[in-house]
Amino acid sequence: MPAITATAPGKIILFGEHAVVYGRPAIAIPVTQVSARALLQADPRGQSGCMRVQASDVQLDAWLADIPQEDPLAAAIRGTLKYLGVDRLPACTLRITSTIPLAAGLGSGAAVSIAVIRAVSAFLGHPLSDEQVCTLAYAVEKIYHGTPSGIDNTVIAYAQPIYFVRGQPIERFVIRRPFTLVIGDTGLPSPTVVAVGDLRRAWQADPAAYERLFDEAGRIARAARQVMESDASPDLLGPLMDENQAVLSELGVSSPELERLTQAARAAGALGAKLSGGGRGGNMIALAAQETASQVASALFDAGAVRVIITQAGDG
Ligand code: MEV
Repeated sequence: MPAITATAPGKIILFGEHAVVYGRPAIAIPVTQVSARALLQADPRGQSGCMRVQASDVQLDAWLADIPQEDPLAAAIRGTLKYLGVDRLPACTLRITSTIPLAAGLGSGAAVSIAVIRAVSAFLGHPLSDEQVCTLAYAVEKIYHGTPSGIDNTVIAYAQPIYFVRGQPIERFVIRRPFTLVIGDTGLPSPTVVAVGDLRRAWQADPAAYERLFDEAGRIARAARQVMESDASPDLLGPLMDENQAVLSELGVSSPELERLTQAARAAGALGAKLSGGGRGGNMIALAAQETASQVASALFDAGAVRVIITQAGDG
């Protein structure tokens, strides 16, 4: 059996995080500068039915049979085996590595699941379609997040810009005029499950107020899609990002650190900035002209960012 390597990119949410859990549209793109990788190799001297799982980033080195049911990594493997109707694996070793920072809003969990699902299914001679991979990864996302919208596993499985509405067929779209984004990491963890849970309690206490904010986020996401699909200048996305950030602050998912980075980016010439993903910590994104991107990146470092990525949205 040949060794199989599968990879999956990171992601950022451009518009509509959190409101997407409540049925409003959101837009996400893959980030190919970071990725998760799964390498699966047969182990000719190993015992049939035994898979060794090694993920040094999370200090895991164990037999699959010894990993608890609720572990998301093991759930991705077991879910794939179940889906394929395989109950006995050839002896093998699965090695997982990732350059996607953990719990930072860049989709590390979904990317690892997708790389693993692809590697396991290909190793067994049944490579799965993007749609199948996406569905299996969504089941694992439920372990990480409780009530995920499904946007993370979808954008990573399809590795294309998507306009996502929960429960509806996915809509891929083409960004007509590429633009530059600077991604800044606060270095603080962003456990999506916590921010999503807190927001749910706030919404339950005052549904009308939160529904209005979700509507506002939905309007912004729709307007942003129109800009990206047309010949209009992508600079128009800047003010929409600022508006979305204001809504996210009101939703209670921003933080002083995210506010500091978004303000530093704007002061350095960014056309707009917002948090991306679950919020509280994790990453923010800023829209910048190509010439000012490195200036914005330096300003983010000066304001405390621990990592900065410059990426192009819509370059294929
Ligand atoms: C997390 O990347 C995006 C959230 O909207 C949660 C979700 O959609 O499941 C915060």
